[in-house]
Parts: sequence; structure tokens; C-alpha cells
Amino acid sequence: MNIVFLGPPGAGKGTLASSVKDYLNVPHISTGQLFRDNIAQETELGKQVKAILASGGLVPDDVTIAMVRERLKDDDCKKGFILDGFPRTIPQADALAKMTKLDLVLNLQLSDKDIIERLSGRRVCPSNGNTYHILYNPPKVAGKDDVTGEDLIQRADDMPEAIAHRLEVYAAQTQPLIDYYSKQGLVRDVKASNKMTPDDVFEKAKEVLK
Ligand code: AP5
Repeated sequence: MNIVFLGPPGAGKGTLASSVKDYLNVPHISTGQLFRDNIAQETELGKQVKAILASGGLVPDDVTIAMVRERLKDDDCKKGFILDGFPRTIPQADALAKMTKLDLVLNLQLSDKDIIERLSGRRVCPSNGNTYHILYNPPKVAGKDDVTGEDLIQRADDMPEAIAHRLEVYAAQTQPLIDYYSKQGLVRDVKASNKMTPDDVFEKAKEVLK
């Protein structure tokens, strides 16, 4: 099954994908995580995109499209995939349509208030990308990754100015994709407010996936 997860920053796309990838046995491809891995490894791509990510802006389409095109050629994508954070613009969606066929676009819905609460409380493990929330999804030991025990950090783009910019960019460039894919009959909405736990959201998503 070829799936795209749509939704504003902090909607819980990565959190949900970590459950759905095991449920469907398909890879989870997060363009944001691929960029963050490149930044951590100080690759040429990482150096090119570091300041863009910190500001909350978008990496140029040609760079992002080329990265996804390469990733989708990997063998593990033959059985399907979850794309999280791609496409984010109409040109990216047009490019994706030339690479593969989609079965479903799962659109996570929540308010701006919930988003801000989530992003400001998010903590991540820098080496494996595991994601927590200080209130809603805390690690077993405060400030430490459950798997490696490493110190958790706050992402540079989870600072207040970057969050505001990401919300503007989302409204201008990514929200139009809901219409784009609705016209193709691919969109299914899933409510994902802070009243729901990550497991509640996963249960709702499973109803759609069935
Ligand atoms: P990316 O990493 O894709 O950022 P994003 O879309 O802003 O999404 P997030 O990772 O912030 O949030 P999420 O929806 O995955 O939520 P999460 O599960 O962490 O992209 C980062 C940057 O990379 C972009 O700004 C851009 O610069 C660049 N980039 C990436 N893709 C690009 C593209 N295609 N084109 C150009 N540039 C691109 O959850 C958030 C928090 O909420 C966590 O703390 C979590 O524990 C908590 N939480 C999750 N679910 C629940 C729940 N049900 N209840 C309560 N809390 C919850």
C-alpha cells in the first residue's frame, strides 16, 4: 500500500507512522528525518539545508524531489511505503505522480492551539529520531531515550518563531494538497486532537486502512 500522511507540523504524522509501518510492514519515509540525518552526519546536503530547517522554511523542490526519487528506488519500497512530510507543495505532488501511484492520503486534523502545545513539548532522540512529548507521550526516564538512554533534545524548528513560520508555510504551500488529492478521491481525514492519545489515533487510522 502506497500512503501519504498529510497534516500540519506536529500533527503526529511521525508518531502515527511508527505504529502504521509495523502494522502494514512497509517503510516509513520521513523527508524531515532524512534531512535531519544528513545534518547530523554533516553531509553536503546536510550543510545545504541546515539553516532552512532551523528557520522552518521549505527545502527547494528540486533537492527534495531528487532525494525522494532515490529513496523510492530502494527494494523495501516495492511492498509499499508511508511518505511523511512529502509532498509538501504542488510541484512535489506532480513529481510524485510521475514516480508512483498512491492508494491513500491520510490527513491528520487538529487545531493550531493543539499544534503549538505539541511542538513546544516535543523532545527527540538526535541519533534515532524517536519522538516524545513531555506531557502526552513521556519517555520512561525523563529526558532520556527509551532505547539508547541518550539525552533527548528540542528540535531547532520547535522554537516559537520557527513554529509560527512553519504554520504559515503549511497554510500557503501544503494545505492546497488536500484539495489536490481530494479531487483524485484519495483523501481520508483522521481526527488527531490532544484529547486523543497516540493509540487512539492509531485505532482511528486502522479503521481507514482496513
Ligand atoms: P518534518 O520533520 O516533516 O516536520 P513537520 O511536518 O513539521 O512535522 P513534524 O515532524 O514537526 O511533526 P509530526 O506531524 O511528525 O508530529 P510528531 O509525530 O513528531 O520537516 C521538518 C523540516 O524539513 C521542514 O520544516 C522543512 O524545512 C524540511 N522538509 C521536510 N520535508 C520537506 C519537503 N517535502 N519539502 C521541503 N522541505 C521539507 O508529533 C508531535 C508531538 O506531538 C510529539 O511530541 C508527539 O509525542 C506528540 N503527539 C503525537 N501524537 C499525539 C497525540 N495523539 N496526542 C498528544 N500528543 C501527541
